[in-house]
Amino acid sequence: MGKALDGVRVLDFTHVQSGPTCTQLLAWFGADVIKVERPGEGDITRSQLRDIPGADSLYFTMLNSNKRSITLDTKNPEGRAVLEELIKICDVMVENFAPGVLDRMGLTWERIQSINPRIIVASVKGFGPGPFEDCKVYENVAQCTGGSASTTGFRDGLPLVTGSQIGDSGTGLHLALGIVTALYQRTLTGKGQKVLCAMQDSVLNLCRVKLRDQQRLERGPLQEYSQFGEGIPFGDTVPRAGNDSGGGQPGRILRCKGWETDPNAYIYFITQAQVWDKVCTVIGKEEWLTDPDYAKPVNRLPKLNHIFATIEEWTMTKTKFEVMDILNEVDIPCGPILSMKEIAADESLYATGTLVNVDHPVRGAYITVGNPIKLSDNDVAVERSPLLGEHTDEILSQVLNLGEERIAQIKASGATGAPVRQAAE
Ligand SMILES: CC(C)(COP(=O)(O)OP(=O)(O)OC[C@H]1O[C@@H](n2cnc3c(N)ncnc32)[C@H](O)[C@@H]1OP(=O)(O)O)[C@@H](O)C(=O)NCCC(=O)NCCS
Repeated sequence: MGKALDGVRVLDFTHVQSGPTCTQLLAWFGADVIKVERPGEGDITRSQLRDIPGADSLYFTMLNSNKRSITLDTKNPEGRAVLEELIKICDVMVENFAPGVLDRMGLTWERIQSINPRIIVASVKGFGPGPFEDCKVYENVAQCTGGSASTTGFRDGLPLVTGSQIGDSGTGLHLALGIVTALYQRTLTGKGQKVLCAMQDSVLNLCRVKLRDQQRLERGPLQEYSQFGEGIPFGDTVPRAGNDSGGGQPGRILRCKGWETDPNAYIYFITQAQVWDKVCTVIGKEEWLTDPDYAKPVNRLPKLNHIFATIEEWTMTKTKFEVMDILNEVDIPCGPILSMKEIAADESLYATGTLVNVDHPVRGAYITVGNPIKLSDNDVAVERSPLLGEHTDEILSQVLNLGEERIAQIKASGATGAPVRQAAE
């Protein structure tokens, strides 16, 4: 088996979550990812949300698998010189610093191009060009400015952020696609290019069904939203719709057996038109099959609250897994609400490599999420994240082919960490 990005070398100048998720994916496709970190503390996530004193946090270890780490103070002239050497030999450079940081380092696009015209420079920023382009942005800022928060939650409650990291990891995914596309184009043109993903744009891309609804709203009420059936008038903007489905099929989260004590004893139930007859049969409401008020989807819309309350009377007599078994037997799609505890114990996810147990020399074993994208000719095992500066010597000597004297000079300058003094003559 091969490695899809074998031979691609990535200069990973990323930190926190968005950039690192992108370069971790590239590493899982076989690219050689060299993470450049500030000497001393490295990527700030190494010490954030620490659960074991002195060990790299899960925040860091779960975002930086299969990478090599070199420490470089890029504000030190020798460190900056090494960085430029890396730019020379890398195919891709990925960064997610605040706007202007790279320019302040003297690494403008023109400068990078003059060093290596084939390099692809990929950046995550909070916003694209416009009034907010200079702003620093974190996950929840992107969720709020990309349209997700205003459309998540219940109509009469606060806007809500979601646990899915659509701003950070979502943007990392978008960026990875931009990078491999630019790599493909380079095989035709021989030239590098800039790839930019704004977190606001990525969130909006994932929220496009809500912009669809905004435009539909101008032509009338959104009939599949619960509030239509409840007779509550719509305003001029897409409301929060609780657990209503974002697709054309009505859906809700319903209680299952044990809900009184188990916060996740629920199932997502969809009353898809194609399987309506089966739904009626399964829950024992055969009379709905012939009742004109229930037989047609459009007639059901004003009665959705009653319909789902009736279905819930049935789901509450079964566990979420029993409901799943019964419904899937007759091809009715549904989604048991799985807790992280249940997911972490699911052997089938380990069998596919979606979950992986990794050993780490300082923190011991931990679970991480492996590559969710399966290629039939890409064989890369998930490896632990690197310790800070673990590969500094290896990269200087074997990747940059620097001699002992030059390496000693770089180290003496303090570019890779505290200055290392050479022995007196
Ligand atoms: C995430 C973010 C808000 C963090 O902000 P921050 O912690 O203040 O970090 P910055 O990106 O501003 O960069 C910090 C500084 O570290 C310096 N630095 C970074 N790596 C360095 C190194 N190896 N050696 C020396 N200096 C280094 C930079 O030069 C910069 O210095 P400057 O401001 O004096 O020019 C910001 O980077 C950002 O908005 N990024 C883009 C959007 C993004 O990706 N957000 C999501 C993150 S999950």
